[in-house]
Amino acid sequence: MFTRSLTLIFLATYVLSVLSHDITFNNMKIEYVTVDGKQVTVEINSASRLKNELYAAKAVRVRILEGSFPVIYADAFSNLPVLRDLQLSGREVEEIHSGAFNNVPALVTMKLSRNKITTINEEVFSNSKIRLLDLDHNLIENISPHAFDNMPKLEALNLSHNKIKNLHPEWFQGKPKLGGLSVRHNQIENLPSEIFANYHNDVDLQNNKIKKVSRNIFGSDDKIVFGQLWLGYNEIEEWKEDFVKGGEVRALMMMANKIQCLEGNYENFFVALQTYIDDNPWDCECLLKIAKWAVDNQKDFGINVENSAKKCNSTGDFPTMII
Ligand SMILES: *[C@@H]1O[C@H](CO)[C@@H](O)[C@H](O)[C@H]1NC(C)=O
Ligand SMILES: *[C@@H]1O[C@H](CO)[C@@H](O)[C@H](O)[C@H]1NC(C)=O
Repeated sequence: MFTRSLTLIFLATYVLSVLSHDITFNNMKIEYVTVDGKQVTVEINSASRLKNELYAAKAVRVRILEGSFPVIYADAFSNLPVLRDLQLSGREVEEIHSGAFNNVPALVTMKLSRNKITTINEEVFSNSKIRLLDLDHNLIENISPHAFDNMPKLEALNLSHNKIKNLHPEWFQGKPKLGGLSVRHNQIENLPSEIFANYHNDVDLQNNKIKKVSRNIFGSDDKIVFGQLWLGYNEIEEWKEDFVKGGEVRALMMMANKIQCLEGNYENFFVALQTYIDDNPWDCECLLKIAKWAVDNQKDFGINVENSAKKCNSTGDFPTMII
């Protein structure tokens, strides 16, 4: 009786451990490069064997070539001191548990594109020296406000083609090197005040559902220098003066929104070196006023509105815009 229950307990523990660690890990073909530049291709059938092999071989670059990895558990890639480059794109990843990449101090490139990730928890990428993080083409809806805490080396973050509804200002804090941020093709509906108060480089928000842009998205400082702001292909109807007023923006893309007219001092709208306002449902009289102002103020070379101007030019009144 005693032996039987012991056997049962043993069996249950074994089954559970197999289930919890390796059930979703099947026949993966891995390619890695070692510290001395040797390239190895292996087939591995468990997450723990993968980690042991990468540790023993001192793998620097790892790429999964075949197989799926639906759940990346805590410690799946932990304590790998020389690993620099981890490519897990297109491997049907659905979940990444906190602590999956613990203590991987040399990791700089992390590619997780084209997976099925829905949520980014805290303590997956935070507290790391990752420079390039690709999370594009997933199903990401929820990202913790602290998901990207303490990542001072981050240079590029790609969140394009997901289902993100809200941006959190915390994501952009303490990242002096961040220069490329793509949130293109998501479900963002509004840009709250001060959302980019901590980040002044390029941001791509094209193809979202943005209707509302609050005032002072770059913060309330007097003179803010910003990179390229891509807001084309959204649903912005109302573009107000105080949205970029006082800023110094390299390029502002507002094409293909729902803007019909601009009310206010045009100086405050056209603060960028290049402003793209084409393919909006412009009220022609309003657009004509803008075009004339632009030509009179030598701003016409910085305003891109060719298609709309042509459409509105049935009377031939539109000044020729040099673009
Ligand atoms: C993000 O990914 C998309 C799609 O793969 C790519 O076209 C784009 O260049 C990337 N952007 C950045 C900033 O990495
Ligand atoms: C509008 O039409 C006039 C007369 O045909 C032309 O000279 C001008 O270049 C046109 N403007 C634009 C913006 O196409």
